[in-house]
Amino acid sequence: MARIIGGITTSHVPAIGGAIAKSLQQDPYWKPFFDGFVPVRQWIAETRPDTVVVVYNDHGLNFFLDQMPTFAIGCASEYRNADEGWGIPQVPAFRGQTPLSWHLVQQLVDDEFDPVTCQEMVVDHAFTLPMALLWPDQKWPVKVVPVCLNTVQAPILSARRCWKLGQSLRRGIESWDSDERVLVLGTGGLSHQLDGERAGFINKPFDLQFMDSLAENPTWATQFDTHQLVEQAGTQGIELLMWLTARGMLGERVAELHRNYHIPISNTAAGLMLFEPR
Ligand code: DHB
Ligand code: FE
Repeated sequence: MARIIGGITTSHVPAIGGAIAKSLQQDPYWKPFFDGFVPVRQWIAETRPDTVVVVYNDHGLNFFLDQMPTFAIGCASEYRNADEGWGIPQVPAFRGQTPLSWHLVQQLVDDEFDPVTCQEMVVDHAFTLPMALLWPDQKWPVKVVPVCLNTVQAPILSARRCWKLGQSLRRGIESWDSDERVLVLGTGGLSHQLDGERAGFINKPFDLQFMDSLAENPTWATQFDTHQLVEQAGTQGIELLMWLTARGMLGERVAELHRNYHIPISNTAAGLMLFEPR
């Protein structure tokens, strides 16, 4: 059976793509952010995952407000990026792990989740940039399964449901008849708000408490409803739900191997964590 070898959670900010395109990794503004990924890449080099299940949110590239699934699973053999308006080079296409996609869809339906299945799907910065941070040569030695959660348009998923979704995805991966080593990647957050009166809002104490909770008490965030999470983390800080889903895929106990937290990157508190299931 397939095995989950670890989980990585990271922020995704479009400006990272601009920094990569201009080779600004050593620039004083960017260095504390990019340096955080060095130990994670070292861990990847040692553990060599075969497939990555990427939990992320689309921001209007593949789904717009007229058609907005709560859960969407990529079931395609290939996923491309498309121009999101920055005019920067697009990353090479990703190879889909289609058998695992369909197996996860079956598991989710069995567990009373209702995902949209996408045999064509473009993936935005929330998918491509974390992948480019993990594999800077962009040669993608892994296949992927995109798991896209709506955190853009109301009604937004509850933290409790995201935790259960993670548990269901875990059951799906662990019952997949394969020898593959699967990495879980959750992207988004941490605290940020791009619009309205609180634009620029960042909440470091909350972010740090959330990061601590993922290591020690992972259901901590499920005590909050969506409005409470937005109040604490900002309107777009609700993307921490992708971290919670990814963490739910790792089971009850984990070892935290690495973390980084740097504010701000653009308008966002940039966080990074690496876990192994125990
Ligand atoms: C920013 C952060 C995001 O999560 C995003 O999707 C877009 C922009 C930002 O801070 O600029
Ligand atoms: Fe985002």
